[in-house]
Formats: sequence, C-alpha cells, structure tokens
Amino acid sequence: MKDKLNSIKDSALQDIKNAKDLKQLNEIKVKFLGKKGELTKVLRNMGKLPKEERPIMGKLANEVREAIENEVTKIEEKLKDELQKAKLESEKIDISMPGKNVPLGHRHPLIQVKEELENVFQNMGFDIVEGPEIETVDNNFDALNAPENHPSRDMSDTFYITNKILLRTQTSPVQVRVMKQVKPPIKIVSAGRCFRFDDVDDTHSPMFHQLECLVVDEGITLANLKHTINVFVKELFGEDIKTRFRPHYFPFTEPSAEVDVSCLECKGKGCKACNGTGWSMEILGCGMVHPKVLENCGIDSEVYSGFAFGLGIDRLTMAKYEIDNIRLLFENDMRFIKQF
Ligand code: DAH
Repeated sequence: MKDKLNSIKDSALQDIKNAKDLKQLNEIKVKFLGKKGELTKVLRNMGKLPKEERPIMGKLANEVREAIENEVTKIEEKLKDELQKAKLESEKIDISMPGKNVPLGHRHPLIQVKEELENVFQNMGFDIVEGPEIETVDNNFDALNAPENHPSRDMSDTFYITNKILLRTQTSPVQVRVMKQVKPPIKIVSAGRCFRFDDVDDTHSPMFHQLECLVVDEGITLANLKHTINVFVKELFGEDIKTRFRPHYFPFTEPSAEVDVSCLECKGKGCKACNGTGWSMEILGCGMVHPKVLENCGIDSEVYSGFAFGLGIDRLTMAKYEIDNIRLLFENDMRFIKQF
C-alpha cells in the first residue's frame, strides 16, 4: 500500500506540473482526489490492513493528499498569473499611435454674427434671453397690439400649427414673455429663428433670423434708442458708418422707424453699389414701445416707457460678408461656410 500511495503521489505531481490550463488542472485534481479518485480508492481499502499499520498508512495518505493539494494550489496560481499576463498583453494599447481624424465642422457665419452682436450688447449691459420658436398667437400678435385684420396674421403669411399656436413670425413675442415675467428695469436682447410663408428668392427665405432688443425703465426716450443703435452699428461696421431713421409703422411701437446704414462700399459718398444714394440697406425696425403693449404685459405706462428694435441677422451677415444670395446661408455647403 505504501508503494501504491507513493506512486499515486509521483504520478499526480508529474501530471499537475504538466497541466496546460486550469481546466486540465481541475481534471487532474478530480482524477486523484475526487470521490472516485485514485487516492480515495486506496483509502477505501484501509479496513483490510492489519490494525497496527492503519495509523501509519493513514498518516502517509494524508501527507500524499496534502502534497497533491499544495501542488495544485501552486500550479493554479501560476496558470492564473499567466492567464492575466496574456490578457494584459492582448489588451495593450499603443498610446503613441496616431488618433483617428474626426472631421470638425465650421462655425456658421450666421452664428458668428449672432454671437458678435450678443457680445456687443452684453458689453453694453444687456441680458441675453431665449424664446421658443413655437409661439402662441397671443404672444406673437395680440399682446403686441397687432390688429385682427393685420396682413401678417393671414394664413398665407404665417405657419400656423393650430389656430392658437404658430411658428413665430418675429422675435418680438420674447418682449411679451420678458415683460410678463420681470418688472422694469428691463434691458435684454434675444436672437433666434423666425418663420414666414415667403417664397425663396435671393433675399428671402421662409426661415430667417432676428435679434430683438427691449429696454424698459423710467424716463426712456427716443434719444436712448438712437444712441444704442448707433453704438452697435459702429461697433459692427466701423466708426465711419452712419445711420438713417425713416418713419414707419409697427403696431407695437409708437412712434416707429426703420433704420438704414450708409453704404459699406463708399461710406456714404455714393457709388455703383448703392446706386449713388450713399445708403445701402435697411437693417432693422424700431420704435418706442406702444403704451398698450406695456399695459398688456402688466407694466404701468404712466410710469415706464421703453424702446425696442428687431434686426435681421441674415441681412446683416450678407452685408458684412458681401454675400449676394441668401440661399448660400442655408445650403450648408462646407466649401462656402469654411470661408468665414
Ligand atoms: N418684429 C418686426 C419685424 O419683424 C421688427 C421690429 C420692429 C421689432 C419694431 C421691434 C420693433 O422690436 O420695435 O418686422
């Protein structure tokens, strides 16, 4: 029996050393130590031994079991270690390898001008607010004193979603939202998309951009309006650019005006580009906020007055970069956009 035990030990240790992976190692362990394993088989025959030999063989059997178990643990650790190393090796990344080139877009000229404008106004102490592109008919027209029969309210001029909700036709409804929420002093600008049922031509698009300005406080006058407009026009186009205020009509301002800037080409002297007039284009509509609009928004028109204007960002961008076709702004051709 002693020889048998020793030979089990030797062949077990040999097998264990040769185990190629953990699965094989486990099979070897079962083969020798399992319920039907070789060592177990020998131990079953212990009863047949003479009494005095039993403790000696028992001790030897335990030593054999221990030796096998120890070797299994040792090899198991070695195999696990190798496995881990192989895994690390296979997952190694070469951090010196050049990255994949992700093509970046380019800031759109409209966004550039919008941000430039916002910057100018922010430096003048204005807050920047945002308004939704989907508006109520009430904010877009009624609260702005736009009469029931005003042509801009027509189904064929405005994208209605329901008869109470539409795609805003101007940024002016932001005025209503702000005045209903905060008490004067108010000094805000708000830029964004507007929508009208316009056919596309060189200067028209059913989607376009405006920037709205609103100032409400005690003692605000037309002088404040003119000064503010002159400051930002000079900031944007240069010191030598002049403005011209032409009387106009808007339902939500009284008095109202449209503003032209002097020709960017000849600086007002008169040239081919401006047909010799010295004036190149209309950039915005403006006026003193109509008392009715203030009252509609819960502001006492006996105490407060205000001015407002709305300017076309698309037009301004086209003038600034000498773009003669508005379609170019919305085709998103990178060859065009990358020029700015
Ligand atoms: N919302 C007007 C338009 O789209 C522009 C405008 C005119 C805005 C006068 C104003 C304003 O705030 O006071 O034609």
